[in-house]
Amino acid sequence: MYIDIATEKFNRLRTQKDIIVLAFESSCDDTSVAVVKNGREVLSLVIASQIDIHARFGGVVPEVASRNHLLSISNITEEALNKANLTLSDIDAIAVTYGAGLVGSLMVGVNFAKSLAFALELPLIKVNHIRAHVAANYLSNKDLTPPFLALIVSGGHTALTKVEDYATQTLIGTTHDDAVGEAYDKVAKVLGLGYPGGPVVDKLSKSGNNNIQFIKPNYNKKDFNFSYSGLKTSVINYLHKTKQRGEDACVEDVCASFQCQAVEELVTKTINASKKYKIDKIALAGGVACNSHLRAEIQKACEKEKKKLYYPTPIECTDNAAMVGAEAYYQILAGANLADLDLVPDTTINLKYSNK
Ligand code: KG4
Ligand code: ZN
Repeated sequence: MYIDIATEKFNRLRTQKDIIVLAFESSCDDTSVAVVKNGREVLSLVIASQIDIHARFGGVVPEVASRNHLLSISNITEEALNKANLTLSDIDAIAVTYGAGLVGSLMVGVNFAKSLAFALELPLIKVNHIRAHVAANYLSNKDLTPPFLALIVSGGHTALTKVEDYATQTLIGTTHDDAVGEAYDKVAKVLGLGYPGGPVVDKLSKSGNNNIQFIKPNYNKKDFNFSYSGLKTSVINYLHKTKQRGEDACVEDVCASFQCQAVEELVTKTINASKKYKIDKIALAGGVACNSHLRAEIQKACEKEKKKLYYPTPIECTDNAAMVGAEAYYQILAGANLADLDLVPDTTINLKYSNK
């Protein structure tokens, strides 16, 4: 039976010198396949971006995303293997993102990975997307080891976790409503700047001034949770009122003011958490970790507080399969998250930070 063979191979992997993982990511609108060695070395990474397809709709259209994952996943698997100069017979395990994300999108990656694992009789490792974003840091920062504090900022999540060791993460704060990336995308949309909004708001902010006082995004100063819907609504209301007065808003100033407030909240809560939990290393993760203002401000704060800051390369910040391969490697070492062929997407796992 498949699961008996896979379990035996899975248990043997930990004794092996090198572990090569073929990893898949299809949780949202990027289809990605990577080959990763020992959780730290990217042998190849291919990403089929759907940004141009969804941009004309102003955001991701789930059905369109799933169909495009289907169209590209097979080709980019071949491309990833070719780039790594390997064949399927060199692969030790298959890894796939099984949640959180869009169910139809996840379904494509999960089913493709299951089929390959079954056909090749290889262990299948199920990977939590949010943990994978954190693991992206292991790829670009060879010296990073737990414990550290992770700030996960993406289109779907805003969270602070304590990474106690490679297998254990504790959630210490999350968003009560919108994720910070979602707020960036919404602000860009109302300003007519297209999708995704983060990069363009980041760019325009550089020529704007932080001179508009929007509602501060504080949910509750005392804990480490976040709230971005108030700030987002405050920007929308400001734009409506400006229009009603027959005036033109300065787009650069709106971007700069929104960004300063959004980032200040992230930096303050992260530094406060690092002090409270006495953690000296801070790692950024997720698409918003590319943000130039966030990187500059948190770097300054870290220098002041004598904390060491880590972040992935821009390509490893946004959705990619290399981070899935990195996370899977540490799950293999922990003997966790071996999946059977009944694996299905789980869109509710965003707050689960345990191994399972
Ligand atoms: O991690 P990611 O690729 O996908 C999710 O898991 O959500 O993150 C995408 C998010 C989008 O909201 C995008 O606007 C944002 O990351 N983003 C940025 C920047 N680059 C991407 N936000 C702010 N500044 C950036 N430079
Ligand atoms: Zn993501």
